[in-house]
Amino acid sequence: MNTAAKTAAAVYPPRKEFAQTAHVDADRYAELYAASVADPEAFWREEGKRIDWIRPYETVKNTDFTLGQVSIRWFEDGTLNVCANCVDRHLETRGDRTAIIWEPDDPKDAPKHISYRELHGHVCRMANILEDMGVRKGDRVVIYLPMIPEAAYAMLACARIGAVHSVVFAGFSPDALGARINGCDAKVVITADYAPRGGKKTALKSNTDKALLHAKDSVKVLMVRRTGEQTSWVQGRDHDYNELALEADDVSGCVEMGAEDPLFILYTSGSTGQPKGVVHTSGGYIVYTAMTHEYVFDYHEGDVFWCTADVGWVTGHSYIVYGPLANGATTLMFEGVPTWPDAGRFWEVCARHKVNQFYSAPTAIRALIGQGTEWVEKHDLSSLKLLGTVGEPINPEAWNWYNEVVGKGHLPIVDTWWQTETGGHLLTPLPGATPLKPGSATKPFFGVQPVILDPHTGEEITTNPAEGVLCLKDSWPAQMRTVWGDHERFEKTYFSDYKGYYFSGDGCRRDADGDYWITGRVDDVINVSGHRMGTAEVESALVAHETVAEAAVVGYPHEIKGQGIYCYVTLMNGVEPTDELKAELQKWVRTEIGPIAKPDVIQWAPGLPKTRSGKIMRRILRKIAENDTGSLGDTSTLADPSVVDDLIANRAGRE
Ligand code: WT7
Repeated sequence: MNTAAKTAAAVYPPRKEFAQTAHVDADRYAELYAASVADPEAFWREEGKRIDWIRPYETVKNTDFTLGQVSIRWFEDGTLNVCANCVDRHLETRGDRTAIIWEPDDPKDAPKHISYRELHGHVCRMANILEDMGVRKGDRVVIYLPMIPEAAYAMLACARIGAVHSVVFAGFSPDALGARINGCDAKVVITADYAPRGGKKTALKSNTDKALLHAKDSVKVLMVRRTGEQTSWVQGRDHDYNELALEADDVSGCVEMGAEDPLFILYTSGSTGQPKGVVHTSGGYIVYTAMTHEYVFDYHEGDVFWCTADVGWVTGHSYIVYGPLANGATTLMFEGVPTWPDAGRFWEVCARHKVNQFYSAPTAIRALIGQGTEWVEKHDLSSLKLLGTVGEPINPEAWNWYNEVVGKGHLPIVDTWWQTETGGHLLTPLPGATPLKPGSATKPFFGVQPVILDPHTGEEITTNPAEGVLCLKDSWPAQMRTVWGDHERFEKTYFSDYKGYYFSGDGCRRDADGDYWITGRVDDVINVSGHRMGTAEVESALVAHETVAEAAVVGYPHEIKGQGIYCYVTLMNGVEPTDELKAELQKWVRTEIGPIAKPDVIQWAPGLPKTRSGKIMRRILRKIAENDTGSLGDTSTLADPSVVDDLIANRAGRE
């Protein structure tokens, strides 16, 4: 993939008609961006006003990137309630507008339209139920739900009562769920009986039961009935949401929260085996997600906005729930997958609900390219005004198809670079302002100061073109504040490699025009279908199998997923390396972590290439996986060079 950087870049300036009605045109971008970095205090003091505060802030920014004393605080003396900003404040002016359009997995089932007034009732009922279950300000609630409106109700209900939610993607295994429940010491887990998706279903309640075998006895369960099928039931522990909601009061107050009180924790993979709990707080996060949602997607009052992500990822938090709802938008929530019942599903949904902005991922686009253009052409996409992409660098083929086939050559495509840690977009075009280049996330958003550092010297490269590691020089309001329960790990992960900067973990190129091109992760994290996977996590799952002595995992280019998972496995002495065992190990990792972590390739490795001090040389393993063995680089530090010859000779069957 990532051929983008090598191709001479085509440039698509913003169309005049678009720029005329857009919030921001090129001149305005230049002017506002300059102001935002010249005086961040003044800029954000003004921007903070897009949110309703209970007690207005006086201090705007109080941030320090110095290793040993990293501290990030925005609007710190202000108080607010995020749920009030996403729901209550719209009741007077937009009470009857649809807040959430829900499109179910099966197109034969009816979609739902939930107005802001109805949303208020649902959220209040959920808030009252949670309070009755003993949840109070500061307590943690894990949300393990399908893509149903109750997932948004649950997030907003937590925000309303000041509880900290941690959403766990419904594709994660019981073990992964359990680790997250214990990791944040959750009081309640909100789940569903089953999660239908692509015509199949996952037994969420049964997964939750398994996860709770290793959790505290006091953890309670609130179960939403999605399919209505029978499930196990533990008296006293399990609570029936649908029954309780019938009785629950549909009004409830909003708890006054400090701007720096945590809003949510979201676990994400890093370069070690343990996922880390990324903590986002209230004030800065909601200001920034509302603002980026408005400017990056050029959202206008009344637009129907669709982000195809799952609420289990940060994209769903920021651009299905918080950003759009803070702006009083209509946000579409889709339970299904792009290719079921057929490859026209996305476009059918766009046509049915007259979607105006469509925000998806390169992996979804690549999966659809192979199915042919007729699936797009048979649906009326005339409501679309803008397309967006996120998750990984978009290859020019996918960009061109998105542009020509979906956008009919005249829609702006915003390629948004950001991370779980950044809370919202950092590098992105503004559709009325920025000339687009296929594969480039182009320019920084307001207030964002990207820098490219030389990875060896740690010095800023100030000339163009430049290539190195991507860091941020100063804070932005939606920056993560800490790793849950481990501030030291936060500092070490993001602030220790390059002193005084936030280190993104991504490699990056800046071209002669000052446009940014992400070249991929520079750590041991791989990007599988736009989802982050720590290779160390897959390795520890593999070595937990009784037959495995050692494992090393790397990414390799995969046509649809962007990167695939390539595993080198050394078996215990005497274990027979068979195809059955390969299949068994694939299944094992899938159940240990979840379907997204299933290895694509397993290669038996009698030995792994190590330095004399015993460090695995991943660089070499990556080259072999990529089938780029002509340029292995320096192998002189290998303890046993013959190991490499064996791995090349027996490279797993992909030519
Ligand atoms: C990593 C963050 C927050 C979005 C969903 C993924 C890669 C993300 C882009 C893009 C090139 C991108 C980076 C980043 N990435 N968007 N537009 N162009 N790369 O969130 O799981 O926290 O992963 O995804 O490598 O570091 P995440």
